[in-house]
Amino acid sequence: MNINSLRTAAREKFRGACRVCPICNGVACAGEVPGMGGLGTGSGFCHNIQALAECRLNLRTVHSVKNPDLSCRIFGIDLAMPVIGAAIGGIALNMNGAVTEEEYADAIVTGCRKAGGIGMTGDGPNPVVFDTGLAAISKEQGWGIPIIKPRETDKVVELAKRAADAGAPAFGMDIDAAALVNMTNAGQPVGPKTIQELEYIKNHTSIPFIVKGIMTPDDAESCWQAGVDAIVVSNHGGRALDHTPGTAEVLPYITEAVKGKMTVLVDGGIRSGADVLKMLALGADAVLLGRPLAIGAVGGGADGVALVLNKIKTELNAAMLLTGTAQVSDVPVEILW
Ligand SMILES: Cc1cc2nc3c(=O)[nH]c(=O)nc-3n(C[C@H](O)[C@H](O)[C@H](O)COP(=O)(O)O)c2cc1C
Repeated sequence: MNINSLRTAAREKFRGACRVCPICNGVACAGEVPGMGGLGTGSGFCHNIQALAECRLNLRTVHSVKNPDLSCRIFGIDLAMPVIGAAIGGIALNMNGAVTEEEYADAIVTGCRKAGGIGMTGDGPNPVVFDTGLAAISKEQGWGIPIIKPRETDKVVELAKRAADAGAPAFGMDIDAAALVNMTNAGQPVGPKTIQELEYIKNHTSIPFIVKGIMTPDDAESCWQAGVDAIVVSNHGGRALDHTPGTAEVLPYITEAVKGKMTVLVDGGIRSGADVLKMLALGADAVLLGRPLAIGAVGGGADGVALVLNKIKTELNAAMLLTGTAQVSDVPVEILW
């Protein structure tokens, strides 16, 4: 299996749910939610891609960096590179039954682990989605991070406790799913959280708490005040609210507000090792990959996920050599043009 055969296999299995375009930019699939696209006009997804494209790298080769260090430590977890598999749930609905929820969760969790990383799992209106993700994590001795919808606060605490019991090193809550009607319609209400509610979750759980879906410095500050361990700067791949900016646009303002106080992760439109490096230069500690790993999982299971991640790793290594970046934990903004 190589990247081309993987992509061909994925395109066939998706049967149109994802076209596996030469450039995954949200144009062909605009409005396809359920599906793999961005919500409404699809502009949030497209802005993620555009914002990263507008960041350019300074090519520098007169320096002493010959063996860049890609490894990092994120809330006590050692990773071969600062790339995490993003949570993607609701496979049957979004991927036209290309794979089952179980096959998907297993591919992400095991594939990320094989490549020296860690994967996240999702949640949905059917409790089976969360349970399947947690089962995949249990099969890998707890090596995965479940992301819980912003359900009623005590329910979040209950699910986070199950994550800790399964051995997960952290859990998250995708707070940007606060208006997901299919959760509320299924009798599992979701909604925004106050600082006090975030604090309550933090104080009633034992493993690091990640809040995913932060797009403003104010919200980041509120998370920090609540004692949250990490945030993911994310617009849910453009699937929560139409007309949001790209994450690379807002990231520098957010890192200016909370860098050094908490871990800052980011996702949205990251498609290459160079994109990873740009996000690190803008202040992120690590990034999440969504759709590129979905293509890997559907086209080749866990091995497909690992193949995509290893390609990103090779590209990141080259981008570090060609910008004179010695360590992923210390990427100067000056590598951006
Ligand atoms: C089909 C689909 C389902 C998703 N389901 C979830 C989910 O259950 N929980 C979650 O936190 N994020 C979910 N996301 C968002 C991703 O975790 C991530 O934020 C986004 O895909 C990143 O953008 P990218 O796909 O451009 O890399 C989903 C995204 C897609 C495309």
